Amino acid sequence: MSNHNHHTGNKNFDLEKYIEAHTTPEDQLLSELRRQTHLKVLRPRMVSGPIQGQLLTMICQMIRPRAVLEIGTFTGYSAICMARGIDQEGHLDTIERDDELEDFIRPWFQKANLEEKITLHIGNALQVIQQIDKKYDLVFMDGDKREYPEYYETIIEKINPGGFILADNILWNGKVIEEPDPGDTYTLGILRFNNMVKEDHRVEQVILPIRDGLMMIRVKP
Ligand SMILES: C[S@@+](CC[C@H](N)C(=O)[O-])C[C@H]1O[C@@H](n2cnc3c(N)ncnc32)[C@H](O)[C@@H]1O
Repeated sequence: MSNHNHHTGNKNFDLEKYIEAHTTPEDQLLSELRRQTHLKVLRPRMVSGPIQGQLLTMICQMIRPRAVLEIGTFTGYSAICMARGIDQEGHLDTIERDDELEDFIRPWFQKANLEEKITLHIGNALQVIQQIDKKYDLVFMDGDKREYPEYYETIIEKINPGGFILADNILWNGKVIEEPDPGDTYTLGILRFNNMVKEDHRVEQVILPIRDGLMMIRVKP
């Protein structure tokens, strides 16, 4: 999740501040994880912040999924938020392609006391998912934007009827309504994904314009 929108106008910026000020703040552990991400990891702005984090926790509290999948762990912020929202019997599988992040991530899952509840898989989600013989109630898609169409095709078969997919960054800093540069494979990936979902009769969906846009998709029972 990134904050590219911050400087598009003072009012948007002020509203974002207001929203943050009136949303339950992150606790010490998440705030420290976010700080360490900024100090030690490249592209730290990818980390979910307190607003998105709180939303993920609450979505898990609302739908009470047994099995959750995340594509794109990064430093583990969103994984911790989701794992905290799921019931005792619930479990989260989270997949990260960058093996250099593993040593950073694991101690945070321990500190958060969530080692039992979260399984971290290091590898390419497109391959790892094929190896996990499981069906999910909720999938949080936050990996490589160019691969969204492939993630969608791969996971749609693995979602229980009535289950949900949350896809992050689907407004891509507003680029979805601009004329796409033919070389911009990121924007093209998002556009293709958004259209695939729109045309797929197996699902229904809504776009939440939070931050960079979050698409909530429900697989019809
Ligand atoms: C936007 S960050 C995820 C942020 C994290 N979910 C959060 O909210 O804090 C995207 C992550 O996806 C990872 N990624 C990209 N392509 C992937 C793939 N095919 N399989 C697994 N992880 C992937 C990247 O290495 C990166 O760490």
